[in-house]
Amino acid sequence: MCGIIGYCGHRPAVPLVVEGLRRLEYRGYDSAGVSFVQSGALHVLRAPGKLAGLEKKLEDENVFSATTGMGHTRWATHGAPVEKNAHPHRDHEGKLALIHNGIIENYQEIKAELCAEGCEFRSDTDSEVLVNLIAKGMKLHGGDVMQALSWALGRVEGAYAIVLMSMDHPGTLWATRVASPLVMGIGTGENFFGSDIPAFLPYTRDVVFLEDGELVRITSGSWEVFNTATLAPIAKEVQHINWDVQAAEKGGHKHFMIKEIFEQPKVIRDCLLGRIDGGGVRLAELDGVPVPERLHIVACGTSYHAGLWGMYLIEKLAGIPVQVEIASEFRYRDPILPKGGLVLAISQSGETMDTLAGIKLAKQRGLPVLGLCNVVGSSVSRESDHVLYTQAGPEISVASTKAMCSQLTALLLLALYWGGKKGTLPAADCARMVTDLAAMPDVLDDALPGLRREAQKLARHYAGATSFLYLGRGMNFPLALEGALKLKEISYIHAEGYASGEMKHGPIALIDPDFPTFAIALDDELFPKVKSNLVEVQARAGEIIGLTNEGLDLAVEHRWNVPRAAGPLSAFVTLPALQLFAYEMADYLGKDVDQPRNLAKSVTVE
Ligand code: G6P
Repeated sequence: MCGIIGYCGHRPAVPLVVEGLRRLEYRGYDSAGVSFVQSGALHVLRAPGKLAGLEKKLEDENVFSATTGMGHTRWATHGAPVEKNAHPHRDHEGKLALIHNGIIENYQEIKAELCAEGCEFRSDTDSEVLVNLIAKGMKLHGGDVMQALSWALGRVEGAYAIVLMSMDHPGTLWATRVASPLVMGIGTGENFFGSDIPAFLPYTRDVVFLEDGELVRITSGSWEVFNTATLAPIAKEVQHINWDVQAAEKGGHKHFMIKEIFEQPKVIRDCLLGRIDGGGVRLAELDGVPVPERLHIVACGTSYHAGLWGMYLIEKLAGIPVQVEIASEFRYRDPILPKGGLVLAISQSGETMDTLAGIKLAKQRGLPVLGLCNVVGSSVSRESDHVLYTQAGPEISVASTKAMCSQLTALLLLALYWGGKKGTLPAADCARMVTDLAAMPDVLDDALPGLRREAQKLARHYAGATSFLYLGRGMNFPLALEGALKLKEISYIHAEGYASGEMKHGPIALIDPDFPTFAIALDDELFPKVKSNLVEVQARAGEIIGLTNEGLDLAVEHRWNVPRAAGPLSAFVTLPALQLFAYEMADYLGKDVDQPRNLAKSVTVE
């Protein structure tokens, strides 16, 4: 998500920090800022938009004597991308400055408490609440920054990587993390923090990877790591990395796509932040919005496939009739949109022209619009009446992967939320699903390396194929469509996704020994049906990859057992398997995985 750099050393800190932010630009951001202590004062400069805006402001300042500083590029998750929400944030007395990547889940409660104590806020962010809480901790602990941090962080829930500076300690920085990336760079007479290694790569290749619950203090000549809760010292190992700049940007992965596929456990965790509560689902964004009588989902590409998956789920769990439409069709139809309905516009970028046109049409017809998107402040979020953010962080690879995972998570939350409100979903069933969903990131963390190895093996075997059929039934049908789309997009191998039961109405004519089928045949109530469809393929000598679960009676050429997951949660395992197969095929064939020919990340034309 956001880019972070912190520096304590002997060089002018501000130019170094700005240069570090430039090296983090590839991640995408919507505003930037720096802070430093100079002549006894804590300075904070911020600007919306690209770094040029910040540099313009810095031109008018003499910033060359500070040798400690920090900078941030913000990728908004709370509050619009405007200057007041840009980082660093100061506490209300202006003595501390904080940069933050992540989401503080319980910031509203803490904000209310601090407001009652007379604290004034200038932004809409959770980060400003945190810096004020640390300031309160300083008062409670006689000005001791470490104690204050330990106390304040003990009170917050959520995910964060933060760097803190204090007017009273101009040569020191503190940092800590929980579930958000943060690394430390160790130099000679200088030390660094970064959200990613490229932030400081020109200066040092000696790094310390920080773990959750570790608190670090650096000066130009020292670095110390402590347990955040107990403040007991922790010994850490310095690692020397040989990554070049490009590898560092990709976190050591070969492509952004594989990096993003592996980020999916975190994506689920981040999407759930602040939204599950005991066994229930809390969607503050929908407070006061009535449960729709009908839902019209409008989207394009991968987001459309997520919408199709959502249809099965919302109809089943919440009993709401759902229609899913390709936005470019919806906008030119004369759709019937009776009152009481809601349009759900799904878009990662929030800038897809056809989806925006769909929103406009819905509004002309008097229907409220809920936007489900990733980019805060995007056109979809501005045009919609209500917005639910997927909180997936920037997606760089053109072929969408982690964004779909976050959309599925959000759609599942919506189904549970509406099911609970309408009473169609018993509380105990909801609680079970919430528990299973919250456990899914760990399941996936364990499963991903094995899934990748299997995908590599299969890719080598099938790389000569010129066409592929993807089959799935029920909730696995949209996933079959997505698997085929991924393969087409990045490996340029023709692929068609089909509902297994529909295969006999056409595609079966194509089956021969050179036309392989990728079948999703998991342990669910439709398994026997899928199995008989596959027998039809085998009768025509077609080879099959069967994505299935251990113990199921399925005899195919390549059986790919994946971990069992309850009901709709199987999608969170199936999706990465499909993505990894496409990825490994494309990589094996030497294709330009992150920038496939003819495709754009954000389609802002018709
Ligand atoms: C483009 C991208 C796809 C994406 C689609 C919809 O075609 O290449 O990956 O799924 O647009 O984009 P959106 O940002 O609206 O989800």
